[in-house]
Amino acid sequence: MALVVHKYSLFVLLTFLILHSFSTFAHSKHTNEKKPCKRFVLYYHDILFNGTNVANATSATTANGTMLGNFQLGKLVVFDDPMTKDNNLLSTPVARAQGFYFYDMKTTYNAWFSYTLVFNSSEHKGTINIMGADIMDEETRDLSVVGGTGAFFMTRGICTLRTDAIEGVAYFRVEMDIKLYECY
Ligand SMILES: *[C@@H]1O[C@H](CO)[C@@H](O)[C@H](O)[C@H]1NC(C)=O
Ligand SMILES: *[C@@H]1O[C@H](CO)[C@@H](O)[C@H](O)[C@H]1NC(C)=O
Ligand SMILES: *[C@@H]1O[C@H](CO)[C@@H](O)[C@H](O)[C@H]1NC(C)=O
Ligand SMILES: *[C@@H]1O[C@H](CO)[C@@H](O)[C@H](O)[C@H]1NC(C)=O
Repeated sequence: MALVVHKYSLFVLLTFLILHSFSTFAHSKHTNEKKPCKRFVLYYHDILFNGTNVANATSATTANGTMLGNFQLGKLVVFDDPMTKDNNLLSTPVARAQGFYFYDMKTTYNAWFSYTLVFNSSEHKGTINIMGADIMDEETRDLSVVGGTGAFFMTRGICTLRTDAIEGVAYFRVEMDIKLYECY
């Protein structure tokens, strides 16, 4: 009887230890939403090519919208836009945002973004890759930071977009709050 109890308690102890090690493993992978390992805000400036503003434009429509709905569904814009630390277009860019967005909704304005922030300064050399839905009706939109290279090797996180200014069809500015939860 004593032996049986002993074996039983050993079993319980082992089970506890195994479960505990699993839960600490799971816990170590869990990131704290409130505590990014790196966080910074940058402003994205998009000046759309209108046929004449060659000197200033940083993005261009490469495919027009379709007739499906009234919200430009299918329109594709490729950009090489400056990223600045404050919301002044004329500030020295600290990175470039290179990628594209297209409109993808029939019933309202909605876009899908996919781009790389390219950093090439003495401060940072590397890239951050970002993609996701830009649900324009929302005050803020969360896009996924899906990876990075160089100074941002293997990073992941969330990039929160907030529209800062819209000047007609030619120019808009977006605040990007970049929160990285994996830093190496
Ligand atoms: C294009 O943009 C430039 C600079 O903002 C402006 O001067 C010009 O009138 C625009 N052209 C057209 C066709 O809208
Ligand atoms: C370039 O854009 C800036 C800001 O919108 C504007 O002040 C300037 O007049 C533009 N220059 C040209 C050549 O369109
Ligand atoms: C898109 O349509 C506009 C207006 O119809 C036209 O001026 C422009 O050249 C077209 N752009 C492309 C990339 O087809
Ligand atoms: C990065 O910056 C260096 C030094 O200013 C320059 O030589 C190089 O061409 C730049 N690379 C890119 C991709 O802009």
